[in-house]
Amino acid sequence: MKKLGLGILGSGTGSNCRAILEQIRAGNLDAEARLVVADVFDAGILEIAREFGVPNVYLPPGKFRTRLEPGVEMELVRLLRESDVELVVLAGFMRVLKEPMLAAFPRRIINIHPSLLPKFPGIESWKQALEAGEKMAGCSVHYVDAGIDSGEIIAQRTVPVLPGDTAESLHARIQAAEHALYPEVIAQFCAA
Ligand code: GAR
Repeated sequence: MKKLGLGILGSGTGSNCRAILEQIRAGNLDAEARLVVADVFDAGILEIAREFGVPNVYLPPGKFRTRLEPGVEMELVRLLRESDVELVVLAGFMRVLKEPMLAAFPRRIINIHPSLLPKFPGIESWKQALEAGEKMAGCSVHYVDAGIDSGEIIAQRTVPVLPGDTAESLHARIQAAEHALYPEVIAQFCAA
């Protein structure tokens, strides 16, 4: 069967990228990571791509803080198409995508977010959950639209908030759930 071509975008550590690449390597995911792109020069995700032998590129984002410069976003579309990417996987990519990407990959861009959306979009969502006194936290995988963490939800995983939890301990529990959930959702796309 033909493997699903993935393009993985990130800005940081890349632990979700690693979880996906490990599942591919283990033969549990009928996908091929064809390109990893980071908007941060020294992002750990680029190092992980190199470790797994996945083509990777640093894309200088341009002058804006929360999005890519339009010309850069068009270059991103070109790079992903050139690499035969069929599903764009955001793994800690901290910029909002706009029309060039959304039009080029309709319902083919997914994101993982560390909260039970629609609760706590934005940054450091686990801290928001802790401060709000939530009993349950978790993570969500959703389609990407023009908003921030706002697209249609595909799947969620719940974890408990335990007595004595710190932001760090809760974050670690949520991330472990992310590492299990994201490959499972990608497997659904492979089977579709
Ligand atoms: C993940 O926890 C992901 O949910 C979050 O960034 C982290 C990246 O970690 N994404 C967002 O907050 C998106 N709004 P990683 O680089 O180790 O995969």
